[in-house]
Amino acid sequence: MGNTQRSAATTGVGPGASQSGPARMRAVVQHRYGPASVLELVDIELPVPGPGEVLVQVRAASIHPGDYFIMTGEPYLVRLAFGLRRPRHGIPGRDLAGVVAGTGKDVTDLRVGDAVFGWSTAGTLAEYACVPANQLVAIPAGLSILDVAAVPTSGITALQAMRDIAKVQPGQKVLITGASGGVGCFAVQIAKAMGAEVTGVCSTDHLDLVDSLGADHVVDYTRTDFTDSAERYDVILDSVETQPLEAVRRVLTPTGTLIPNSGRGGRWLGPIPRIAKARLLSVCTDQQLRPFTSFPKREDLLALADLLATGQLTPVIDRTYALDEAADALRHVASGHTRGKVLVAV
Ligand SMILES: NC(=O)c1ccc[n+]([C@@H]2O[C@H](COP(=O)([O-])OP(=O)(O)OC[C@H]3O[C@@H](n4cnc5c(N)ncnc54)[C@H](OP(=O)(O)O)[C@@H]3O)[C@@H](O)[C@H]2O)c1
Repeated sequence: MGNTQRSAATTGVGPGASQSGPARMRAVVQHRYGPASVLELVDIELPVPGPGEVLVQVRAASIHPGDYFIMTGEPYLVRLAFGLRRPRHGIPGRDLAGVVAGTGKDVTDLRVGDAVFGWSTAGTLAEYACVPANQLVAIPAGLSILDVAAVPTSGITALQAMRDIAKVQPGQKVLITGASGGVGCFAVQIAKAMGAEVTGVCSTDHLDLVDSLGADHVVDYTRTDFTDSAERYDVILDSVETQPLEAVRRVLTPTGTLIPNSGRGGRWLGPIPRIAKARLLSVCTDQQLRPFTSFPKREDLLALADLLATGQLTPVIDRTYALDEAADALRHVASGHTRGKVLVAV
């Protein structure tokens, strides 16, 4: 297994460690890239937090499409970052919420027993995860630990898209495709909180959901093609990209911002050709075509925690799977038809 976390075997410490041997935990691991069947639930040594790290007892981890790309190693481009022949980190998953079970040297602002949420690049589909303290935020009082596990990657992506890339202004018209998905549910609520007039595009089954998130208008993509609309939008977050860029641009204002945001695409390069095309088109138009890669930042997680605490943001949970059902959770996310976020409760 390629997990780089230090284990109790190497240090001899950690919750539950005894003189008879290091403490152990259950974790989902993968030894090679492939379909969800490559995932195994195994018993491994408990990791030990290094300097600046926190050992989190994971209560829930949320899954997003990127976890599926990393598990399969497709598009192949992901292998440049995550391991050429096999995944560098053997434990999948990135987002988590849980309780601090131990702290490494130099951690001053978190204590054992604190409820936290955040992200880890060393895997979260396990009973415990070692996470740098600066990738964790205290869970606001009154919020469910399961709900907040849904937030990190998708919430940060939605926040950065609306606030940093589109710079949404009050009164602007914002259209969001995939409005019922992991990113979309957050984006609709964040755009509303920023004072925009929001149109969500989703299927018939999800019209009520997107309406309940505060969208001013909801378009059923099974009946209406939003690119045929006479409306013009200042901002379009296109998380699905089922329409060509040219068609989507028709419903963008002359100086509007289009964010092509799907990670899906061809087997080798994924979304890269579309991103390149968007960048090229940007040169010859006043419309802003702004594909972007979200970057996790603690201050953005704190901003999201504020929105959660003030009730301006409510996570939508689709299904919650057990740790031994992690493969089913990944398969469901791969379907592209999730309703909000998919969780694995530990
Ligand atoms: N830029 C970044 O750094 C970044 C970060 C994270 C994620 N992403 C990308 O963002 C995209 C969205 O992620 P996600 O987590 O929200 O999950 P997702 O699986 O892409 O979206 C699922 C949602 O899309 C809806 N949908 C499917 N076809 C549709 C269509 N033709 N029109 C409108 N909605 C449609 C589904 O609803 P129905 O079931 O009703 O069809 C479902 O609710 C992914 O491609 C992901 O890779 C990018």
